[in-house]
Amino acid sequence: MPRKILVTSALPYANGPIHLGHLVEYIQTDIWVRYQKLRGNQCIYLCADDTHGTAIMIRARNEGRSEEDLIASMSESHQRDFANFGIEFDHYGSTNSEENRELCAQFWCSLREAGLVTESTIEQLYDPEAETFLADRFVRGTCPKCGMTDQAGDNCNCGHTYSPTDLIDPKSTLSGATPVLKSASHLFVELEKLRGFLTQWVDQGDHLQSEVANYLKGHFLSDELRNWDVSRPAPYFGFEIPDSPGNYWYVWFDAPIGYIATTQQWCVANGQQLDDWWKNDHCEIHHFIGKDITYFHTLFWPGMLHTAGYCLPTKVHIHGFLTINGEKMSKSKGTFIAAETYLKHTQPSYLRYFYASKLTPRVEDLDLGVEEFAQKVNTDLVGKVVNLASRVGKFAHQTGLAEEYPDDGGLFEEGAKAGDEIAAAYEAKDYAKAIRRIMELADAANPFVEHAKPWEMKKDPDRYEELQAVCTVALNLFRQLAIYLSPV
Ligand code: 2FM
Ligand code: ZN
Repeated sequence: MPRKILVTSALPYANGPIHLGHLVEYIQTDIWVRYQKLRGNQCIYLCADDTHGTAIMIRARNEGRSEEDLIASMSESHQRDFANFGIEFDHYGSTNSEENRELCAQFWCSLREAGLVTESTIEQLYDPEAETFLADRFVRGTCPKCGMTDQAGDNCNCGHTYSPTDLIDPKSTLSGATPVLKSASHLFVELEKLRGFLTQWVDQGDHLQSEVANYLKGHFLSDELRNWDVSRPAPYFGFEIPDSPGNYWYVWFDAPIGYIATTQQWCVANGQQLDDWWKNDHCEIHHFIGKDITYFHTLFWPGMLHTAGYCLPTKVHIHGFLTINGEKMSKSKGTFIAAETYLKHTQPSYLRYFYASKLTPRVEDLDLGVEEFAQKVNTDLVGKVVNLASRVGKFAHQTGLAEEYPDDGGLFEEGAKAGDEIAAAYEAKDYAKAIRRIMELADAANPFVEHAKPWEMKKDPDRYEELQAVCTVALNLFRQLAIYLSPV
């Protein structure tokens, strides 16, 4: 029976370009989806732009255009970048859709009915010029501990952490104004009430990598779970909460619901029923995300799905960060590489191959060493794979292929036998292992051509059949490699 599989990658924020760090995830996911499709499973890959929040609102304001206009152009550029890297979504949506608004309302009713929503007043810094409340990252000031100026809202270079209200001489990064304290009423989800369910979900089965389950148990589930602040007062770019006018759902509330809204759009376009995907125990749901957003996808999101009566993720697949030459990508060091910039210099397939050769199922950071990148592409892709075909391709044009597959000393059979192992490695997201196995096959295939020396056969008309046999073997071995590499 083919499996029914719904796959998502994290929804990229609509406030910046796609860069090589993002691509680790989209390439990892796309390979997995292509592998599932190749195996004959019914698999759909969904994604969308994550469009709400203060950052988008402020940026649109600064650029003198509407938020809708800004997010439309970001979505276009994101989709162009993804397509250029061969990332093939079955549907690409937006969290700013009517489907998402309706689903948010539905989730909200379920949370209310389950008695999980509570209201309380909090004091927060407010920018009187920009007329908006300020998240910590929008405030800078002098460290209360060491006196260093121009420090972030929540921590100083000296290592001290604090609340932005402790800063000396705080300034809003939006307008430069001095923020004032202002109170507002917020709505919270009482996550602690879901502790029983969450503990069980984290513990049972194989939904999470073991290091992730341990991290959650050690860092969150060992203490009381804090209430989750899910509303923001106006002005805010997002969906207004129907039963709380003037308040909006926080971007992290509506973003994961965007996975379902995007599925809904795909269903309408493809004559399918949403419940067959999200309320069906026979459908698998796989989320691919980076380690920085573990918390949202492994506690809040399962809690929301459970409360609203949707299926829980079969698995949340978490990957590490990208480093470039051993360091974090940084704009100031010139190691920030946008997808578009990369494409001005080299081929997208090289990056897909390189990432595949480094990706494992573990939550490990992945380093793109520029030397290693060039060496892998040259040695493996050019030297082993392409070379196998290019050494015989022009002869095969003249000889054609033999009618029966010639004796190759067992090479093709060896390759066929490796199929299950390579498939299992793809399934387990151990692409590094799959690639190692495929390169071993390439290493076995190339000497066949080297020993046969087809370029010498070519000079001797009596050896035409031998030449045809060599071409037939080499091209079939190449075909085998190409199939194994096709998800990449
Ligand atoms: O971390 C991020 O970039 C978020 N935009 C991911 C959202 S994933 C999902 F929950 F929508
Ligand atoms: Zn300090």
